[in-house]
Amino acid sequence: MQTIMTVAELRRALAEARRADKRVGFVPTMGYLHDGHLALIDASRAQCDVTVVSIFVNPTQFGPSEDLSTYPRDFQRDEKLCRDAGVAIVFAPGAEEIYPAQFETFVEPGELAKPLCGAFRPGHFRGVATVVSKLFNMVQPDVAFFGQKDFQQCAVVRRMAIDLNLPIEIVTVPTVREADRLAMSSRNRYLNEEDRGRALAISRALFGAAEEFRLGERNVDKLIAIAKTALETVDRLQYLELVDGDTLKPAVSPLHRPAALCVAAYVGSTRLIDNVILQPT
Ligand code: PAJ
Repeated sequence: MQTIMTVAELRRALAEARRADKRVGFVPTMGYLHDGHLALIDASRAQCDVTVVSIFVNPTQFGPSEDLSTYPRDFQRDEKLCRDAGVAIVFAPGAEEIYPAQFETFVEPGELAKPLCGAFRPGHFRGVATVVSKLFNMVQPDVAFFGQKDFQQCAVVRRMAIDLNLPIEIVTVPTVREADRLAMSSRNRYLNEEDRGRALAISRALFGAAEEFRLGERNVDKLIAIAKTALETVDRLQYLELVDGDTLKPAVSPLHRPAALCVAAYVGSTRLIDNVILQPT
């Protein structure tokens, strides 16, 4: 495995793979890797000849009062996890490599970035779209892998790839959960034991509503009400919404199109997000 810090070196390393007509898979991350990230790496390994993982805590997607400076980092551990998982290249640039002085060009997503997290994290998806398009240009992968846990991020990236004619297949990988169904997240490490217990309300709420959906409930308000009851133990519910799976606009009753039930909530001072997809048959 190669660890690379500069774009020039990355291009050199990938030129050879490209000459040999290898299929390049790309997994962008902000590090502090867990089994969710590893599932993306496994998916890439299964479909591609060469897997590139980027580790870059992207400043432009954090708001001024968010956790950029305290975002968990452990590069050596990440490197080892990548090596053990069969990654070919870890790309871990410094901030100056990605955002040189006088940087001023951004990718502005549209309507898909407005609801849900977009409403509470102004500029977040602009930062995500910008860094992902830059990383795509650096790696030039054939396929890129994203986790369903960040459902809106997947939607924004997919739209961007279409709108900007990026010749990259975007694959969404299902959310990986702890044994008790808490969605894995680098931010889970902020939770103390008591918070961790209360955080379980989030997946309980989502799976409770998904079960009622499976049993035939198709009314949007009822499904939201079922989830809401289970969310009483979280400290601050930021949003609980059932949205159309493609447009992210509020879903309409009776549900007859794929929809996503999405939550963002604070447990203690930690903001957690999760979702389930409801797929009418
Ligand atoms: P990060 O939060 O590190 O996540 C990297 C990738 O791992 C994302 O595609 C995310 O959806 C996926 N992921 C996280 N937790 C997961 C889980 N429990 N199951 C499955 N996949 C999971 O998302 C980002 O970084 C950044 O916004 C990034 C795309 C790298 C741009 O900076």
